Amino acid sequence: MAKSFHNIPSFVEAAIDCVSRAASSARMHRTQSLRVLRRYSIAEVTEFFGCDRSFVNALMKHPDAPEGEIRGRERTLSVHDIMKLRAIADSRPEARRTTLYWRKPGEDLPVIVLSSQKGGVAKSLSSAHLAQYLTLYYGLRVGLIDGDPQATCSLYFVDDTTSIAGYDVEVYTDFMGVPEAGQREKIHHAPDRLNVFWRPTPWPGLRLIPGGAGIQEADIAMYYLTQTEDPEQKKIYRMLRDSLDRWRDAHPPRTTAKDLSGPDGRFRHESYEAALKETLDVVIIDTPPSLTLATLNTIVAADTLIIPQTMKGFDLSTLHIYLASLRDYFSFIEGDTNPVKFKDAKPMILPTIVNRSSDTDLRTIGEIMAGNPDIISPIYYQYSEGAANAFREFKSAYEYEPPKTRKASLQAFIDNANAVNDAIVMRAIPSLPARGYAQAFLERLFPDGEVEGWSQKAKPSLEEDAA
Ligand SMILES: Nc1ncnc2c1ncn2[C@@H]1O[C@H](COP(=O)(O)OP(=O)(O)O)[C@@H](O)[C@H]1O
Ligand SMILES: [Mg+2]
Repeated sequence: MAKSFHNIPSFVEAAIDCVSRAASSARMHRTQSLRVLRRYSIAEVTEFFGCDRSFVNALMKHPDAPEGEIRGRERTLSVHDIMKLRAIADSRPEARRTTLYWRKPGEDLPVIVLSSQKGGVAKSLSSAHLAQYLTLYYGLRVGLIDGDPQATCSLYFVDDTTSIAGYDVEVYTDFMGVPEAGQREKIHHAPDRLNVFWRPTPWPGLRLIPGGAGIQEADIAMYYLTQTEDPEQKKIYRMLRDSLDRWRDAHPPRTTAKDLSGPDGRFRHESYEAALKETLDVVIIDTPPSLTLATLNTIVAADTLIIPQTMKGFDLSTLHIYLASLRDYFSFIEGDTNPVKFKDAKPMILPTIVNRSSDTDLRTIGEIMAGNPDIISPIYYQYSEGAANAFREFKSAYEYEPPKTRKASLQAFIDNANAVNDAIVMRAIPSLPARGYAQAFLERLFPDGEVEGWSQKAKPSLEEDAA
């Protein structure tokens, strides 16, 4: 029965009740209960692996290979099967190519932040697609931090076993050790405790620190920390970076693919399951459309910053304000004794929801590129009507199973997402081999020439970075 209301508090009560019963909430619930049930054909798996079909066919004959499931006349694999198949591939003593790009002992943990001050510019969508791309195309163990109290990005990953609603959800500001508002000392979590904040998701190897209301409250608490005399307690802008470093040092990569093969040549399923949870190969952070102290922490923790941004004239003025605020924050940090040192990296603006029906958006991209081609990615997210259905259900294009009539437009969006993600990988994790999707996008867009800083010319310098 519908609840009546007569003032703001009773309206809020009634609205909570009404919204949670609405049909689209039911759709969300269905998404959650069916999460990652998507199955992939061997042709799709071949594309993920970037190899010949014969390679996958041979792998499928391994005695420990997942059997998959026959759908129609085809054998199909789940995301879990695909990850395991990569591990099996590289565990074989005779394996020569790399299929599973887990971090090796001693290798650094890249942290990628997607941030901009505007809402609705596809920050969360870009973060979710990047995370799933790194799982599907490289087999990485991805850590995703949802830095937004609205928890949009979390919705792409939760299923009906992970609750993210409610005030008691532990968020990344808890991971950072932000105390209750009014307390003047940071919480120093032991590394084992830090590991608990990373919650498993239905995606193999992908762990999430969900978004939630606690992020909002943390800014007040952080303000209190600045009110102490202790200069160490005052350094509130680097709490995430310090916690991530401590977690990383306590959870290094130990297992290599070869360790997953027993003396009898059989695959060690249990060691594999343990290795999936052993560490992370990359951290991706999605942020809210605001630059608070909590958000500043994500940028200080980052190796690379990606700024998703729509290209309308007014959007650029928001972008300008955002960049100016960052500059102010940085000059404040530099004034600190022992300031943080940012790593060498090439951040970039990522144009999103680009409208191709007029040339306004493309002209804006061109204008920024004319000023400095390195600042902005010429590989952008295009507006897609076809993929909008998937997003409405909080499914990525990689996960969504479209009705037959929508297959082509969804595939077009997958191609687009691959190109963007390939460009992000080239910038943010140059040690991974690029897959050529970004290059193909450029060749379609500029059939007669190179794009300064991005085409052939860009590649050698990126490879040098990796060396
Ligand atoms: N390329 C695109 N084509 C169509 N709709 C898009 C596209 N990118 C994002 N959207 C839609 O825009 C809205 C905002 O996206 P979201 O990722 O939540 O933005 P943000 O995190 O920046 O607030 C969502 O409803 C999403 O479905
Ligand atoms: Mg968002």
